[in-house]
Amino acid sequence: MNILIIGGGGVVGQKLAQTLAKSGTLNGKAISKITLADINNPPSIEAPFDIECQVCDIADPASVQKTIHKDTDVIYLLAAIVSAHAEEDFELGMNINLFGTYNVLERCRALRTKPVVVFSSSIAIYGGEIPDPLGDHTYPNPQTSYGGQKAMGEILINDYSRKGFIDGRAFRLPTISVRPGKPNRAASSFMSSILREPLNGQEAICPVDPDFLHYYLSPRKCVENLIKGAELTAESLGMNRVMQMPGRTWSIGQMIDAMTTVAGSEPAKLIKWDSQPEIKRIVLGWKFDIHAERATSLGLSADASFEDNIRYYIEDDQPTSV
Ligand SMILES: NC(=O)c1ccc[n+]([C@@H]2O[C@H](COP(=O)([O-])OP(=O)(O)OC[C@H]3O[C@@H](n4cnc5c(N)ncnc54)[C@H](O)[C@@H]3O)[C@@H](O)[C@H]2O)c1
Repeated sequence: MNILIIGGGGVVGQKLAQTLAKSGTLNGKAISKITLADINNPPSIEAPFDIECQVCDIADPASVQKTIHKDTDVIYLLAAIVSAHAEEDFELGMNINLFGTYNVLERCRALRTKPVVVFSSSIAIYGGEIPDPLGDHTYPNPQTSYGGQKAMGEILINDYSRKGFIDGRAFRLPTISVRPGKPNRAASSFMSSILREPLNGQEAICPVDPDFLHYYLSPRKCVENLIKGAELTAESLGMNRVMQMPGRTWSIGQMIDAMTTVAGSEPAKLIKWDSQPEIKRIVLGWKFDIHAERATSLGLSADASFEDNIRYYIEDDQPTSV
């Protein structure tokens, strides 16, 4: 089994590669190689099989051609620029999030090998004046360019699958929290940093109120679901390759309480409350009453509690110096 992770230098891509390296198998078959491809040279990982790290820009068809080969069995297409970045730079968002996706799919079509393609969509495809609750069959009505680009990616995944060019599947990822590393340019970045930084003994700013509700999943569960997602049979997916990945809705207050339950009362004291209108404008347009019935029936799952998300961060990602 030869696996390519595009966006393999990113948070989800690295964790996915590490998890696959530990298990050594996908869908009951031994993994022979993982290629990590990213616009920024991706760090390698420890594995009992071959790991190749490549620079690849999905916005450039020639670069994509050098990365996807006839023997690539499974492609995780995780490369993207995130919400606030794509909102600030419309052209770059279109070039990477939409045309980059198209370039990857076109390369698959040219190869005629019908690889499994797992596409990371987002709950940012929901929004506007649509009734709650939301889920697999909700009409996409994104309120950001990033959400629009992801929604167009979903349609491409469906159509390239229908035509038999790929065996695609697209999952609308909940917001990942607690996301390790540094804050990024996603409007949702604070949804991790208000927990991660205090857990690491640093101050963080919360730009929304404690009753702000949102739909979350831990990185550990997200990776588990992406692996199960690649293992689903084409028959179980049928003609609609797009579904909501399971998550759970929590308020900021509940998340902070979970942190206090797991890590004591000190971290919460490091949160500074500072309302930020531009972040609020984006995130208040996002929906949170989301249900993932199809993925759940296919065996994907959410975290049992937000305390789990906090524990996973401490176990998997907290710097040892803390
Ligand atoms: N993290 C979340 O909360 C979340 C929520 C919903 C959807 N998603 C989606 O999941 C995927 C992975 O998210 P993540 O948190 O790991 O993001 P990330 O930003 O950590 O990783 C994305 C990677 O894509 C790479 N990339 C950007 N432009 C590229 C290009 N032109 N060619 C090749 N690589 C390029 C980046 O260098 C980065 O390493 C993304 O598609 C994202 O849109 C994430």
